[in-house]
Amino acid sequence: MLKRSNILVISVLAALLLFAVNGCAEASENPFGTTTPVPITDALAPATTEAVASGPDIANGEKEFKGLGCSGCHSTGSNKIVGPGLAGVGAKGDDYIHESIVNPSAVIVDGFSNLMPTTFASLKESDISDLIGYLKTLN
Ligand code: HEC
Repeated sequence: MLKRSNILVISVLAALLLFAVNGCAEASENPFGTTTPVPITDALAPATTEAVASGPDIANGEKEFKGLGCSGCHSTGSNKIVGPGLAGVGAKGDDYIHESIVNPSAVIVDGFSNLMPTTFASLKESDISDLIGYLKTLN
């Protein structure tokens, strides 16, 4: 004969079973609440690819632009100083900007003289890519 407490246990188990079956039927919903699911691509990305995936450090690029003296010759708008204003230069492409920095006499912008120093050729590649990232934000 069943005792009262056993009936209680069975009811609880039955309720849990129903919950579990129901949970499976609605597998597409998050059974643990309303937290936003982490996109699978992020969750599975190995830590080592992080630096590559995160791209240029724009803040460092801006710092370099001022610290290296680029801003002494280039405005971030469209007005000329010694060199052309760099707003919109991103449209010329990463390779063009890269060459403009490391080998400035390769292409001389119309209306300007070959006055940009060649010393930036010795910059670290990561700083150049940060500079390019920053210049592409100028519009
Ligand atoms: C002494 C002045 C001077 C400094 C400092 C200087 N530049 Fe220049 N830059 C110029 C001049 C002049 C030109 C145009 C002539 C030419 O194309 O080389 C130019 C051209 C460029 C261009 C091509 C622009 C275009 O519209 O095609 C880019 C990009 C550029 N500079 C980036 C930089 C960056 C980044 C730095 C700092 C790391 C820098 N420059 C430092 C004078 C300077």
